[in-house]
Amino acid sequence: MALLAVAACVLCFLPGMARAQLRVGFYDTTCPNAEALVRQAVAAAFANDAGLAAGLIRLHFHDCFVRGCDASVLLTVNPGGGDTERDSPANNPSLRGFDVIDAAKAAVEQSCPGTVSCADIVAFAARDSIGLTGSVSYQVPAGRRDGKVSTKQDANDNLPRPTFTASQLVASFANKSLTTEDMVVLSGAHTVGRSFCNSFVDRVWANRSTTNPTPIVDAGLSASYAALLRALCPANTTQATPITTALDPGTPNVLDNNYYKLLPRGMGLFVSDNQLRVDATTAAIVSGFAANETLWKEKFAAAMVKMGRIQVQTGACGEVRLNCSVVNPTSSSSTVVELLGSTAAPAAGQEGVAASY
Ligand code: HEM
Ligand SMILES: *[C@@H]1O[C@H](CO)[C@@H](O)[C@H](O)[C@H]1NC(C)=O
Ligand SMILES: *[C@@H]1O[C@H](CO)[C@@H](O)[C@H](O)[C@H]1NC(C)=O
Ligand SMILES: *[C@@H]1O[C@H](CO)[C@@H](O)[C@H](O)[C@H]1NC(C)=O
Ligand SMILES: *[C@@H]1O[C@H](CO)[C@@H](O)[C@H](O)[C@H]1NC(C)=O
Ligand SMILES: *[C@@H]1O[C@H](CO)[C@@H](O)[C@H](O)[C@H]1NC(C)=O
Repeated sequence: MALLAVAACVLCFLPGMARAQLRVGFYDTTCPNAEALVRQAVAAAFANDAGLAAGLIRLHFHDCFVRGCDASVLLTVNPGGGDTERDSPANNPSLRGFDVIDAAKAAVEQSCPGTVSCADIVAFAARDSIGLTGSVSYQVPAGRRDGKVSTKQDANDNLPRPTFTASQLVASFANKSLTTEDMVVLSGAHTVGRSFCNSFVDRVWANRSTTNPTPIVDAGLSASYAALLRALCPANTTQATPITTALDPGTPNVLDNNYYKLLPRGMGLFVSDNQLRVDATTAAIVSGFAANETLWKEKFAAAMVKMGRIQVQTGACGEVRLNCSVVNPTSSSSTVVELLGSTAAPAAGQEGVAASY
């Protein structure tokens, strides 16, 4: 029985199987208001702080790249112990939008208890954020189930870093079955939102840990932009330095193709952004999107849907979490379906999850 259960859940991780199982309108009969309730929660948050749209778009990306789109990024406790994805420097302190997901979850729980997964809410919220900032609409195939493992190490290992070269970026996305073009398309999300100093400060200051920090201008930055960033970010910047700047200073809350126009001007904020115009293959794609915003928006919507399918758990795998921050209590996991999910977790992960069961 246990072996069959493991086999059933291993099947869920095969890309082809997972693809067949997500579907647009998944909640049409079980929770017809689900998508509208999420949209309302996102719109309310956006009205109060437009930056949250960027936060929610990134939240979906960081969820999908670490153990698949399973809301593992939301967990504050890993059942197997240890730090969670949220504790990774890639997420802490910069990742935001958790409260919006909680508000959306509260609304759907009230309307249809135990029905809508946190992973689907994250995917819907990203789509709604793209709608609010970019007037782009698309349908989100749903039916993702929530994972039960979240580790800091997985986040460290799987999320691309702002210091990556073009070939490292390509490899990171290829590992998630995303193409070079998908990578360039999705990087256009950096037309909204902000970054803390720590992610780019090494481009404008050298010898930062010494008593004699030196002003520098990274080869990919314009001198004037570098001077601005240096004035903003002290040489002694750390992960905790609470200073941020817009990724696209002109229109930080508008999802346009300005990102691709900034790159050739030496205004890509991260080393990784600038790499897209340094590498010949990606540079050609960048020029195409700089020249045609409609083209980029179409491709962006399609690539978000593709990203949303990464290693999803469906059917009997995983669970529908009741509280997005924590896995369901074992007492409510005593159905056959939940046992199947629990049994499979150690097989799929590297951490000692089994200890908690
Ligand atoms: C290509 C590799 C990528 C790298 C290296 C990267 C890196 C980063 C970094 C370092 C930040 C700022 C974090 C901080 O505050 O320190 C950031 C912000 C952001 N990223 Fe990416 N990113 C990548 C791809 C993506 C993708 C695929 C998306 C979504 C589709 C995305 C969406 C965003 C958004 C919206 C923000 C702003 C977040 C906010 O304002 O809260 N990024 N990214
Ligand atoms: C590639 O993806 C797998 C999961 O499919 C993950 O375990 C591994 O850490 C990833 N490697 C990199 C370099 O992202
Ligand atoms: C960093 O400090 C070392 C030793 O003081 C010096 O030789 C080097 O030129 C400095 N680097 C830069 C970029 O100024
Ligand atoms: C960092 O440098 C700034 C000046 O650039 C200074 O005001 C601040 O006290 C320094 N912080 C730390 C923790 O050394
Ligand atoms: C821009 O892209 C759109 C969508 O693919 C296409 O229909 C349109 O012809 C392109 N415009 C130009 C000027 O190439
Ligand atoms: C969800 O769980 C967290 C952590 O235990 C708790 O602080 C929060 O109040 C819970 N939320 C709801 C809506 O019960």
